Amino acid sequence: MTDLLLLPGDGIGPEVIAEVKTLAALLTPDLALDERPFGAAGFRAAGSCLTDETLAAAKAARAVLMGAVDGVGWTGPRDQRPEAALLKLRAEMGVFANLRPALCFEPLADASSLKRELVEGLDIVIVRELTGGVYFGQPRFIEDLPGGGRRAVDTQVYTTAEIERVARVAFELARGRRNKVTSAEKSNVMETGLLWREVVSELHRRAFADVALEHMLADNAAMQLVRNPRQFDVILTDNLFGDILSDEAAQLTGGLGLLPSAALGEPGKPGLYEPIHGSAPDIAGRGIANPLAAILSFEMALRWSLGRAEAADRLFAAVTAALVAGARTPDIGGSLSTADMGAAVAAQL
Ligand code: NAD
Ligand code: IPM
Ligand code: MN
Repeated sequence: MTDLLLLPGDGIGPEVIAEVKTLAALLTPDLALDERPFGAAGFRAAGSCLTDETLAAAKAARAVLMGAVDGVGWTGPRDQRPEAALLKLRAEMGVFANLRPALCFEPLADASSLKRELVEGLDIVIVRELTGGVYFGQPRFIEDLPGGGRRAVDTQVYTTAEIERVARVAFELARGRRNKVTSAEKSNVMETGLLWREVVSELHRRAFADVALEHMLADNAAMQLVRNPRQFDVILTDNLFGDILSDEAAQLTGGLGLLPSAALGEPGKPGLYEPIHGSAPDIAGRGIANPLAAILSFEMALRWSLGRAEAADRLFAAVTAALVAGARTPDIGGSLSTADMGAAVAAQL
């Protein structure tokens, strides 16, 4: 049985996943790894961004680690593009709760575009609903209008059950942290936002009254994140707001190259782990991408799916020690290559 299926994907994906492979060989040589092409690379190799074989391998593994997909130069059918393959993978794996921790490593407090005193000690988790909302809602289309011009439709849709299961994850996570959940939606404008607020409140009353719950409109949450980010502990939000707020949160910690994620479904099912960044076409192929988001995603896989908390602790400590020792890729103010950054973490192991 495969412990960890690697899907390096496109752009900087293979560059950062290469560093995970080196570290895994050192830290957990007994892990059974498998690897498949995915995204545009999958299309080049087998005519599909996500083949049935790769999907079956993902479902059969204990965990999946994805690098990045690149849709920038895609010229094929839109519903077969690399991003659609990633959405299909998430939906088919049933990983509805996406944990995106934004942690400010002390040596990187000056790498944030915010002042050190605002981000020092920052430790928040965004719990993003990942398999519903406007990413998946039907109908969605673009149509020609009789009088000229076109009309595009996306559909934002949520059910009680979809909201409740992801809210449960957020409340449970908060209990092991600072015991606070901020639920972000647009209940002032959107029906899905209103249902979201009602379902979260009701679940809170029923099962999590010991956790502090705050409701916040998502636009205000975006502002509060840059005004005073440490007021948050766990931010619970929908698929689209979670996508946007997590890129914003990444920058608080020094940038997209630092933010890992874990997407979880029902207990016992494999988790999907991905850095939150994309293929970074502007730097791909130059060997300067920051591998830490991918390395920390591997750390989350060890912890959340593979039952290897001790190895995860060691890896996390090695990343911290490498940063304390001054290891920096260009995105966080240094000049190390991707491989040198990986080696700096390996040296600490
Ligand atoms: P991006 O995340 O690829 O890049 C945004 C910026 O952050 C770029 O300047 C990039 O150089 C920088 N950056 C990202 N990761 C970095 C790293 N590890 N080290 C240093 N710098 C890093 O977002 P984009 O440019 O908007 O999207 C490019 C492509 O990636 C698009 O096709 C998009 O759909 C796709 N994408 C995929 C994923 C994913 O696979 N999970 C996530 C986001 C975007
Ligand atoms: C992310 C990405 C994806 C998303 C894209 C590539 C489908 O931006 O993982 O944050 O929007 O979920
Ligand atoms: Mn994103």
